[in-house]
Amino acid sequence: MPSYAFLKNKFVPLEEAKIGILTHALHYGTACFEGIRGNWNTEEEQLYIFRCQEHYQRLLNSCKLLKISLPHSVDKLCRLTAELLQKSGYKEDVYIRPLAYKSSEALGVRLHGLEDDLLILVTTFGPYLDARNGIKCCVSSWIRPDDNMIPPRGKITGIYVNNALAKTEAIENGFHEGIMLTSDGYVSEGSGENIFLVIDGRLVTPATYDRILIGITRDTVMKLAKDELGIETIERHVDRSELYTAEECFLTGTAAHITPVVEIDHRKVADGKIGKLTKRLQKLYFDVEFGRNKKYLHWCTPVYTRPASSAKTRPRAR
Ligand SMILES: Cc1ncc(COP(=O)(O)O)c(C=O)c1O
Repeated sequence: MPSYAFLKNKFVPLEEAKIGILTHALHYGTACFEGIRGNWNTEEEQLYIFRCQEHYQRLLNSCKLLKISLPHSVDKLCRLTAELLQKSGYKEDVYIRPLAYKSSEALGVRLHGLEDDLLILVTTFGPYLDARNGIKCCVSSWIRPDDNMIPPRGKITGIYVNNALAKTEAIENGFHEGIMLTSDGYVSEGSGENIFLVIDGRLVTPATYDRILIGITRDTVMKLAKDELGIETIERHVDRSELYTAEECFLTGTAAHITPVVEIDHRKVADGKIGKLTKRLQKLYFDVEFGRNKKYLHWCTPVYTRPASSAKTRPRAR
C-alpha cells in the first residue's frame, strides 16, 4: 500500500511530497512541529493516536509564537491525521510528524508577510532510547535558551539546534543523552525529553518556568501518578546536585516514552538499577498508550472505524 503525506492542503503520494529549495523555513528555522505516536493494538486490530488533541493544541500555540496561521481547528487536524493513516493503511506503531512552516519561497529574516503551510508525514519508528535497560546521561555544557531568546515552550524547528548540540556532545562523550540547565543553573530537560526525579518517595520535575517544552508525556505521567498511584508531582526548580542524590530518575517524551536513567555524570542513580516507581509508571503508561486501559480511552483516537480484521500484523514485544 503506498504511503501518503499531507502537503499544501491535499493528500499526495510520499514520493511526490516535495518543497522548493528557497522555502523560508529551510533557511531560517521558521517552522514548528509535533511528534505524535500512533500505537498498534494487536488484540483489537486498531491503531490509536495518543493524545492527538493535546498535540495539535500545542502546535497551534507554537504557530502563534511564529505568526503562522493555519486554517484548521484542532478537531479538523485530528481528522486529517486519522485520514492520512487510514489512506496509508498502517497496521503497526507509527510516528506522526506535523510541521507548520513559512512556505514562501523568499529570502529575508522575518516572520511577517509570508505564506504558511502545514505538512504531515508518517514514519515507522523504533525505540528512541533504551527504555528497558536505562540510559547514562551527562549534564550538558549547552544551556537552554531563555524565553526571551527563543521560547522553549514552542516546538520551533530553529531552537532544535540547541537540542542537537546537546545530544551530539553527549553521544560523542559516551553518554546516551544530555540534560540541559537553564541560564541560572537549574535543571531544565533532555534534548528531546522532560526529566523526573524521585526524592523522598515523591515525584519532582522542573516547573514550566525552567525553559522546558511542556511535554504531553510529562502531563500523562503526572496524571497517572496522581490518579492511579496517589503520588503528587512537585513542579519546582531542581538543582543540578539533586540529580546526583535522587532515588530514581527517568525521562519522558513521545519518542522516549518513559526511559529510566541509571547514571548521571558517572554517578549511579541510587544503586544503578531501574527504580520501582519508574517501573510501575512504565507499565501503566504503556497500557494507557496502547488503549489497553479503558479508563483512559478518551486519550486514544482510533484510526479505523471498525477492526481491520484482514490486518497482517508484525508481532511486537512490549
Ligand atoms: C525538547 C523536548 N522536551 C520535551 C519533550 C517531550 O514532549 P512530549 O512528551 O510532548 O513528546 C520533547 C519531545 O517532543 C522535546 O523535544
